[in-house]
Amino acid sequence: MRTLTKIAVGIGVLIVVLVAVAVFIYFNTTARMNETYDIKVETVDVPSDSAPLKRGRHLVDALCRHCHGEDLGASAFFNDPSLGSIPGSNITSGNGGIPGYTITDWVRAIRHGANKEGEPLMVMPSGDYYYLSDEDLGSMIAFMKTVPPVDKKWPDPDITFLGTMLTGLGQLGNVFNAETIDHEGPRPQGVPRAVSTEYGEYLVNVFGCRTCHSENLTGGKSPDPAAPPAPGITVGSIMSDWTREDFIDATRTLESEYMPWEGLAVLSEDELAAIRMYLVSLPGDEK
Ligand code: HEC
Ligand code: HEC
Repeated sequence: MRTLTKIAVGIGVLIVVLVAVAVFIYFNTTARMNETYDIKVETVDVPSDSAPLKRGRHLVDALCRHCHGEDLGASAFFNDPSLGSIPGSNITSGNGGIPGYTITDWVRAIRHGANKEGEPLMVMPSGDYYYLSDEDLGSMIAFMKTVPPVDKKWPDPDITFLGTMLTGLGQLGNVFNAETIDHEGPRPQGVPRAVSTEYGEYLVNVFGCRTCHSENLTGGKSPDPAAPPAPGITVGSIMSDWTREDFIDATRTLESEYMPWEGLAVLSEDELAAIRMYLVSLPGDEK
């Protein structure tokens, strides 16, 4: 009898502790969602001539449309009945979008991961866009200012209890990029556009290949819980078996719900060659 009582008390205590931990994680994560960041936002030159506008469009095509929609007027992006929904919001100047966005607002969102009010933008990969040079960022903002307004109002993100818990436990990747970006850190330098390992590295950083393929690109896991493992893409992987033409061909033909081929597909052949050159220059798993 005595041991039974002890076991019952033990289980009771365990349940109370687990509930307390769950409540803590829940409220802590909700507080992170509602945090506001007071960021000293730098400005960048926003050109208006046609070459930078073309460059800006190219980068927006490659980086933004698969989350924010073909017309940039929003898409469902992430929707899972058990975890919740996070639409890629309307980023045009139409109703339901972001009319009156200033250059500072653009820089705060793209580079620092926070909206006008300083609230963190969920899932938006600003940690990767931190690597954009001032020149590229300015060109993208210049292009965004020319995008036709789309009138479309999408619901705000709505995260379930389970989604909040998994976010708090770090199971859904880096959801709040604003927390980890070095907001006052030195700005990474841009590199000349060329078929070079340096420009390849720049594109790999900006595209966030490391988010899914791991820090040293030897294989990892996408933040999307439904995704299959992301294989290694350095030496000894499919990347070193593929010729430059094979890789270009892959980006033009492969499709996957979990790998952003559509973004790579708009890159030029030289840009893809630079990415491949950088990846196969890495040590991979070799020590
Ligand atoms: C992986 C998906 C994803 C990609 C890629 C992405 N975004 Fe976002 N972005 C989001 C989500 C989701 C939100 C809304 C977050 C929220 O409401 O908390 C957002 C919000 C924004 C906002 C803030 C709008 C506001 O309400 O103030 C801007 C601006 C923005 N994105 C611009 C861009 C640009 C420009 C690019 C390409 C360089 C881009 N995004 C790429 C997912 C993405
Ligand atoms: C959002 C997560 C994510 C990002 C970002 C990402 N990948 Fe992947 N990648 C995956 C997953 C998951 C797979 C394996 C499953 C699949 O192909 O659908 C994959 C597969 C691949 C493959 C193997 C294809 C094959 O047929 O074997 C290559 C090569 C690749 N990725 C290169 C890249 C490069 C280069 C970048 C950056 C420019 C990148 N990936 C960015 C998730 C990602």
